[in-house]
Amino acid sequence: MSAPFRVALSGDFRKADGSPVYPDFDLEPLRQAANVEFAYLEPRNPVEADQLADFDALILLAHRFTKDSIHPNGRLAVVARFGVGYDTVDVEACTRAGIALVITPDGTRRPVAVSINTFNLALAGRLMVKDRLTREGAAGFTRRGEYMGLGLVGRTLGSIGIGNIGAELFRLIKPFEMRLIAHDPYADAKLAAELGVELVGLEDVFRRSDFVSVSCPLTPETRHLLNADRLALMKPTAYLINTSRGPIVDQKALTKALKERSIAGAGLDVLEKEPPDVDDPILKLDNVIFAPHALCWTDQCFAGNGAADVRAVLDVQRGREPRVVVNRDVFETAVWRNRLLEFRKRFTV
Ligand SMILES: NC(=O)c1ccc[n+]([C@@H]2O[C@H](COP(=O)([O-])OP(=O)(O)OC[C@H]3O[C@@H](n4cnc5c(N)ncnc54)[C@H](O)[C@@H]3O)[C@@H](O)[C@H]2O)c1
Repeated sequence: MSAPFRVALSGDFRKADGSPVYPDFDLEPLRQAANVEFAYLEPRNPVEADQLADFDALILLAHRFTKDSIHPNGRLAVVARFGVGYDTVDVEACTRAGIALVITPDGTRRPVAVSINTFNLALAGRLMVKDRLTREGAAGFTRRGEYMGLGLVGRTLGSIGIGNIGAELFRLIKPFEMRLIAHDPYADAKLAAELGVELVGLEDVFRRSDFVSVSCPLTPETRHLLNADRLALMKPTAYLINTSRGPIVDQKALTKALKERSIAGAGLDVLEKEPPDVDDPILKLDNVIFAPHALCWTDQCFAGNGAADVRAVLDVQRGREPRVVVNRDVFETAVWRNRLLEFRKRFTV
């Protein structure tokens, strides 16, 4: 009988007392799979190469995976990120070493799109202000007419990015009868048309939208994409929602715009610095709703990410290409192809 396929879970999946940080991540399919073993790593950030010498796969939460995390014995075949962001992983080093990098868009698509709509509806309805008014009793009730919400019918929702999450946002908002526009230089025009989304230039999203939502990745091209000039194009009644990555927005410029009320408000799941300093001026503003990069964290999100990662590592064990791989050019490398052949021989006869 051949040695089992060994799967490591990064140390941040486990609390100091040994219990799982996210119990909704169901490890049973790994436990049940034939010829598979798994173990938690000690929490080291970045993950260290020596920790991985005896593993074929790594399921990675938030710890970094750098070129120095790769053991020279060439055993590791796949890194499966728990989520869709992979700025914590050195992708080129993975490709050079014949390691596939998996992400889990199936797990995050619906939960993040729901988060954007949560902000959308809460901002439109002035939910947080009305919560505070109610707690003030009679004094609050007498002021409720000062906080009129924004009806959504015919209003414009604009997205920067219409990928996995951006498209789902548009699917979910359909019954609210908003106008839908998006800017995405790599958009699938057929999908946009099917969703009833008009593709427009970047500046038009800012000019025309009542809600601008950010759903593009953080890249050198998108860093500070939302700068003072672009924020200045937004209507004074418009809201900004960012659930993508903090540095896509120039936070100083946004703080100024919010303070001067040149835009109405914002819903921010992400900030340029996380966690923020408690005296960061943006935290003092009453026209912003915040979440600590966790608005999409639900039982179903974590179960979905876990299931997708487990499926991907079991695909590799059975000698199959996992479905959602960031560095698909790895499939062309001899080291990857030989590994898959070997896994197929060892585990699928
Ligand atoms: N807040 C959270 O917890 C959380 C969770 C998951 C994902 N995210 C963020 O959401 C982002 C989007 O996720 P996704 O699954 O939709 O990714 P995706 O790759 O499917 O979609 C991103 C879209 O952005 C587009 N894009 C790239 N550059 C652009 C640019 N310069 N301008 C406009 N659009 C551009 C791409 O063409 C693509 O269509 C991720 O990169 C991640 O940063 C956040």
